[in-house]
Amino acid sequence: MDWFIWILALGIFGFFLGKFIKHKSLYPFMPFRYDFRKRRNTFLKVMDLMKTIKAKTIIETGTSREGLHGAKSNGAATIVFGKWAKENEAFVHSVDISEDSCKNAQKEVDKQNLNEFVKIHHSDSLIFLENFKDKVDLLYLDSYDYSSDVEVQKKSQEHHLLEFKAIESRLHQNSIVLIDDCDLPNGGKGKLAIGYMLEKNWKIVMDAYQVLLLREDFSFDKLQ
Ligand SMILES: C[S@@+](CC[C@H](N)C(=O)[O-])C[C@H]1O[C@@H](n2cnc3c(N)ncnc32)[C@H](O)[C@@H]1O
Repeated sequence: MDWFIWILALGIFGFFLGKFIKHKSLYPFMPFRYDFRKRRNTFLKVMDLMKTIKAKTIIETGTSREGLHGAKSNGAATIVFGKWAKENEAFVHSVDISEDSCKNAQKEVDKQNLNEFVKIHHSDSLIFLENFKDKVDLLYLDSYDYSSDVEVQKKSQEHHLLEFKAIESRLHQNSIVLIDDCDLPNGGKGKLAIGYMLEKNWKIVMDAYQVLLLREDFSFDKLQ
């Protein structure tokens, strides 16, 4: 009987150890319990780069429809970048076509006291981006949902390319671009946008679940 209890205890210990190792929090920036998993390292790199360029204007397409509880599934970027904006005198514009997504994201923005630093815009992202007049420091593309359906995949990829083109003229030499859901079958959301950007003198800085791009002539010198 003793050996059975030992094996059971080891099994339970292994299970929780595995969970702990996989858990990728942004602590101390965000509470430890939120697991950002496959986006943690790219979020950290983007926040570091934003500090370097003293980012002021952040645009996100596709808002945090599950609030912070969607950290592992959707990313919760509205709240992550909103909190960064609060600590660094910046501002997040998050745009979404779905009223429900906007309402849910707004609830979390209220709960986190981020209203002064985040505005949720209810609009098609393309209309919003075409009408946006300021220079953009971080562009985060994460709207049209990707799926296993090849037709949906193509539409999502085309939409993200159109988003990039719609705001391209508002990007400057040291703008940062992050695209979500890329490490997926058939190239993910970023396939066409990244292909276009690479022809326009952008370079990939991190190639993971999210792809991070900077201009070839991104200049740390100019910032010092
Ligand atoms: C994956 S979620 C965004 C997750 C969010 N970025 C986060 O970090 O939690 C995708 C969102 O894109 C929105 N969306 C889809 N098509 C859109 C469009 N044409 N314009 C704006 N938003 C769109 C959906 O309504 C959905 O809420």
